[in-house]
Amino acid sequence: MFKFLSGLFSRDIGIDLGSANIVVYVKGCGIIIDEPSVLAVRKIGNKGKKEVIAFGHPAKRMIGKTPQGIETVRPLQHGVIADFDMTEQMVGHYMVSANQGRRLLAHPRVAICVPACVTEVEKRAVVDATLGAGAREAFVVEEPLAAALGTGLPINEPRGNMVVDIGGGTSEVAVLSLGGVVISNSLRTAGDDLDSAIVAMLRQNYTLSIGDSTAEEVKFTIGSVIPLEEELEMEVKGRDLMDGLPKVVKVTSIEVREAIEPIIVRIEDMLRYALEQTPPELVKDVVDQGLVLTGGSSQLRGLSNRFSEAMNVPVHMAEQPLYSVAMGLGKLLETVDRGDKIAVTVDHSTI
Ligand SMILES: Nc1ncnc2c1ncn2[C@@H]1O[C@H](COP(=O)(O)OP(=O)(O)OP(=O)(O)O)[C@@H](O)[C@H]1O
Ligand SMILES: [Mg+2]
Repeated sequence: MFKFLSGLFSRDIGIDLGSANIVVYVKGCGIIIDEPSVLAVRKIGNKGKKEVIAFGHPAKRMIGKTPQGIETVRPLQHGVIADFDMTEQMVGHYMVSANQGRRLLAHPRVAICVPACVTEVEKRAVVDATLGAGAREAFVVEEPLAAALGTGLPINEPRGNMVVDIGGGTSEVAVLSLGGVVISNSLRTAGDDLDSAIVAMLRQNYTLSIGDSTAEEVKFTIGSVIPLEEELEMEVKGRDLMDGLPKVVKVTSIEVREAIEPIIVRIEDMLRYALEQTPPELVKDVVDQGLVLTGGSSQLRGLSNRFSEAMNVPVHMAEQPLYSVAMGLGKLLETVDRGDKIAVTVDHSTI
């Protein structure tokens, strides 16, 4: 639905509710929260009741290390809500933090993102969780649109603007023109799947069992998608599946690249398909101006070069790939504050 937003937001916040990270923008203040979308919970009794004992970074540090009775939860998987109650608690917690702990004032209007691929039911769940967490109103903005705004693309012009967001749970591509999404494609495959591929490779090649956090560290340290001038290697510690004892193996960037290759190929296919669907006049703009690559996983070594070759278009890296979506939401909030009109696709719900 196309709407002109004007003067709709007061003390407003924008929330990039990602599978891996939650980033909160407060109007007039900028980005004030950047935390992993993780909670640690303690089970109370045997009726399935749970009490949250940590949010964000402290909770992420507990992954794979919790004693009995405590577990870590990632309430969003592949861009959608997997655990409604935990999502609501997490959003509520950060809404209060955004209001400097003033719980009573924590009823802001909230602009929140969903991947372009979500179903109406999944979108409704995000709205309900936001309202349930205490928001007065919830505006749902399509993630690629916010990402494009956040990277500074002139999306309101009659010009093809292509943005690619590779996050933790979803990979998305969109072409925008005149303030709206012309075409978009998504895959529920991204950084988390790269980690899983590394876990599987170590199990298969070395009978080594490691957790997701270690796999992510391997990805950061030696992950790449093109051959490197000097290939990298690192020691990885885990448990040998054969005898159950601790084991250390040396892993190279070549092995990691091979392990994640099928996922990168799937993402490339999605990008090519998006270009095929794009009207020719807009493709011409993309070829001239290039596309903008954002999202945490866009920082994988060599990804921009790889996409540039695969699609034959210039690729520009976003300045702050982890913040593009939240910055875009912020721009939306700040722009309407100045009384400017901006055409965007939003859905709006009130309690
Ligand atoms: N330097 C890096 N190299 C490779 N991957 C990285 C790097 N930094 C972060 N990542 C990955 O980026 C992902 C998180 O990105 P981001 O915060 O954009 O995702 P998200 O918005 O939470 O998820 P989504 O939008 O898919 O729901 C994680 O999988 C993380 O491992
Ligand atoms: Mg994201």
